[in-house]
Amino acid sequence: MKPLTIKKAGKLTGRLVMPGDKSVSHRAVMIGAIAKGRTVAKDVLDCDDCNYTMNAFRDMGISIKKDGEYTTIEGKGLRGLKAPAGHLFAGNSGTTMRLMAGILAGQDFAAVIDGAGSLLKRPMKRIIEPLSLMGVDIKSAPGGYPPITIKGGSVKPANYKMPIPSAQIKSAVLFAGLYAKGTTVVEEAFKSRDHTERMLEYFGAKIKVEGVKVSIEGGRELEARQVEVPGDISSASFFMAGAVLLEGSKIRIENVGINPARAGILDVLKKMGAKINVTGKKDTFEPVGNIEVESGPIRGITIEESMVPAIIDELPVIFVLAAFAEGKTVIRGADELKVKETDRIRSMQENLGAMGAKVLVSEGEIIIEGSKSLRGADLKSYDDHRTCMAMTIAALAAGGESRIDDVECVSKSFPGFFETLEGLK
Ligand code: S3P
Repeated sequence: MKPLTIKKAGKLTGRLVMPGDKSVSHRAVMIGAIAKGRTVAKDVLDCDDCNYTMNAFRDMGISIKKDGEYTTIEGKGLRGLKAPAGHLFAGNSGTTMRLMAGILAGQDFAAVIDGAGSLLKRPMKRIIEPLSLMGVDIKSAPGGYPPITIKGGSVKPANYKMPIPSAQIKSAVLFAGLYAKGTTVVEEAFKSRDHTERMLEYFGAKIKVEGVKVSIEGGRELEARQVEVPGDISSASFFMAGAVLLEGSKIRIENVGINPARAGILDVLKKMGAKINVTGKKDTFEPVGNIEVESGPIRGITIEESMVPAIIDELPVIFVLAAFAEGKTVIRGADELKVKETDRIRSMQENLGAMGAKVLVSEGEIIIEGSKSLRGADLKSYDDHRTCMAMTIAALAAGGESRIDDVECVSKSFPGFFETLEGLK
């Protein structure tokens, strides 16, 4: 594979619209498939991960058709999925595997969900434990890794306290809870993204949210809906960071999802002193707004564990912002980064280290010393889309020239990333 060369850039300017939110897209397809009737979803993200979700539901007898920006899903009701002819395939998508397991818990057939790449080394015990407590027959390969085998059918309600805040675990439990007789309660220490709760409620589920505690009543069919998928704030975060760091930049990103459980990057940037403004807020079932960002100096901050779930996917680019900020940034309780598509603490530490940045990692704490003299370097994506996009922004801001070894991984969440970036230069 030929490495991509990236030179220090001038400013980024212009207006842009992000592709659909990845998390909301997965949920629109999954919830549409188990609702009754035709769901039409606008702007479902066209990327590798969401395509794995769509294909898996097609394999279970659901018609899903794309026509321009509209995706039509012919939902068959809670128990309308058919046994797939072979293994279901989640590719490299943790969201596909973990969320789908919750839905399979309630189906009257056995299925295997297989995966590929780094997903084969990502932990599945975290969903096997709660689903087993709910009476579901679910097993992983040795070590708690994929593939997972699920014999669905009878689900018991549970009262589950999650050991780690994770929207994927919470969603798997809530989906399984749809099939239980009675009320399932799931609780986390800090609130993770709540797209599942919002969308289930929008489709007619009886769901109650009290802070970090969510309850769902089982046995009630969902009704098909029209869904508008907002622009993905995680994808937007790379351009926000680029605009902050490259002098003379000014960009406006329109129609971005700003769900507070997800949009911690806005608070982080404000705290760092960035010039950022959200306009035209609309409070639909997923709130949206336009994000305007200008370049300017930023300072290091402290990020506590309670903030981590709302910025979990933005942390790689926050590492980059911190490396160029004035003073030091401290990030606490971000160990979940170790079990993403790659160990993102290591990938960011090594890449930023190659550029001359100081990133100190100790038990439960990461310290990044800001610097004005980072230089281009040979960088590695570690086959991780977010490491790759974050380091692309670092390469635009550092002196000289960088090379990233393999950039194809961006298609996991954002196939047009480099073209969109070029359009702003
Ligand atoms: C996601 C939840 C997060 C996030 C991932 C998408 C989701 O994972 O990192 O990219 O759509 O529910 P965890 O729940 O494992 O934190």
